[in-house]
Amino acid sequence: MELDDCRGIRRWPIVKDIDERRLRGCAVLSNDKAMSEKVSLAQASEKGSDGTLATARRYAPLQDTFGRTFDYVRIAITEKCNLRCTYCMPEEGVDFKNGEQILTADEILRTINVLAGMGVKKVRFTGGEPLVRKDIVKLVEGAANTPGIKSVHLTTNGIIFPKYAQQLRDAGLTGVNISLDTFDPKKFKDITRRDGEEKVLAAIRHAIEVGFPRVKVNAVIMRGFNDGEMKLFTELTKDMPVTVRFIEFMPFDAHQIWETGEYFLSAESMIKYLKETYPDIELASGTRTEHHIFQVPGYAGKIAIIPAFTRSLCGNCSRIRLTADGGIRNCLYSDQEYSLRDLLRQGCTDDDIVATFRKAFHEKARDGFESKKRSASKVSTIKFEGRVSMTQIGG
Ligand code: GTP
Ligand code: 5AD
Ligand code: SF4
Repeated sequence: MELDDCRGIRRWPIVKDIDERRLRGCAVLSNDKAMSEKVSLAQASEKGSDGTLATARRYAPLQDTFGRTFDYVRIAITEKCNLRCTYCMPEEGVDFKNGEQILTADEILRTINVLAGMGVKKVRFTGGEPLVRKDIVKLVEGAANTPGIKSVHLTTNGIIFPKYAQQLRDAGLTGVNISLDTFDPKKFKDITRRDGEEKVLAAIRHAIEVGFPRVKVNAVIMRGFNDGEMKLFTELTKDMPVTVRFIEFMPFDAHQIWETGEYFLSAESMIKYLKETYPDIELASGTRTEHHIFQVPGYAGKIAIIPAFTRSLCGNCSRIRLTADGGIRNCLYSDQEYSLRDLLRQGCTDDDIVATFRKAFHEKARDGFESKKRSASKVSTIKFEGRVSMTQIGG
């Protein structure tokens, strides 16, 4: 059972008058108002994993108006990637943000520290490809040593993972999700526009050898392209203690191949296929993204199906997103952003950071469909940046 296993929505008692003050206060980002967020403990001392005592200011948990609590932050640390997956980026890449535009390690770690004070327990570094960022080990170490943070994860394409695996493990990384959509070298090249399926398979094996507690394989399933390999992927779990996750194809590809409707395969069809192919397959437990999860009896690993497009997982949403250039997103399907970078660089207080997250999550829609609907019509008063690729949103 994983740390973050929990299918029920945890509802914190909402004190109405604090909530109302919070909402008014957030709109103007005033320190005074944000201070009203603090729980009575005010300051709490916790032991950092290096043994030193660190002081973490405590705030009320981050919640939305539907009573969901957000305790998992996904941080994109770069938009750059060493692959060019067709469902994600055009061949020439996108207009990658560089240097000054991207949050520094100190800015990221400060944000994690404040979020930990609001009850965030899980951090995932994504990209682009997070391993192309030179300070990745420092980031993992800093996140793992933040009081309150219980697990630190990485989503990677695996190509250069073996080079960093041991350092990352030593730095405190607890889990790694590696993307692999096909075992076929030609198809691998078709989808990523590069060679490398052997490297990715080696990365998966290496991650197990190094001893990461959680190793997962992400496969975006595209009808007529790799759906015929679902059995091969399932067989990978026979001896390997990994969770293979079949992900619904989402309309975030820069060239909109999704729009043709040709490639989409629903989570429901994937479940049907699994049950027909493995009549004895049993239900298992997993994370909140792993909305449907199974295990073939006697197999070492598990199979999960992620309804990324059909979005039946939204009722359980616990995720906060931060883009590489410091935009808070309250939903994968929302195009509204709240700039944290500008605030950080204006010398804001921690309370200002808290207030900005509160505002972003107070405005979170019920689900990804509603977010999408609003995105098409609503003109943002805060900041809007059109992003054309998943690499800019952070997966
Ligand atoms: P775990 O913590 O191991 O469950 O990982 P994760 O699924 O949160 O992270 P990962 O980066 O491996 O994401 C895998 C896929 O899950 C993404 O490519 C998306 O397809 C899907 N996914 C992640 N976050 C969301 C989300 O907020 N909404 C939806 N609809 N899909 C998501
Ligand atoms: N649809 C579904 N998943 C996608 N990913 C990237 N683009 C898409 C898309 N259009 C996946 C990657 C990686 C994860 C972070 O996001 O395969 O596993
Ligand atoms: Fe949460 Fe939006 Fe993802 Fe649904 S689509 S799980 S609401 S981030």
